[in-house]
Amino acid sequence: MSKLSILVYPDQRLRRVAQPVTEFNEQLKQLVTDMAETMYAAAGIGLAAVQVNVSQRVVVMDLSAGKNSLQVFINPELSELKGSAESEEGCLSVPGVVATVERAQTVKINAQDVTGRRFEMNADEMLSICIQHEIDHLNGKVFVDYLSRLKQHRIRKKLGGKKLSKESRAAVSVAAA
Ligand code: NI
Repeated sequence: MSKLSILVYPDQRLRRVAQPVTEFNEQLKQLVTDMAETMYAAAGIGLAAVQVNVSQRVVVMDLSAGKNSLQVFINPELSELKGSAESEEGCLSVPGVVATVERAQTVKINAQDVTGRRFEMNADEMLSICIQHEIDHLNGKVFVDYLSRLKQHRIRKKLGGKKLSKESRAAVSVAAA
């Protein structure tokens, strides 16, 4: 296992649109393992492959209190987006920033597991918000994009070119995805 480094906004590599996974092999399993380790080490609740500079449609997530319930979504797609809900979001790629974002309240997720098996599930609350946030990453989008231009400017000024220590990043990313 190895920990991967997380790209920090406004890194342009976060803008790349990830490619669908077509090979469900050992390399994919290793990527998922490494992404999970990276997410847990950073005390995040979700991570998309784009954030670790891998242009593939892979998401890991763990919304459990005990951090013992890893969820893996390969090639995830959403349908049946219903309602709207505002919540406070953070992101491992935008350390130290939390902001209110409006998203669909409930969604249906279609995805594959690490072996390629297809599954679907209905998501609400945290899972719904988090999967929408992560699929945005796979499409080159960051939650900062939903904020006002002024807020975006402030965040770029705060994070641009500045490297945060691992400790401070972990401290501010308690609910980051
Ligand atoms: Ni994120």
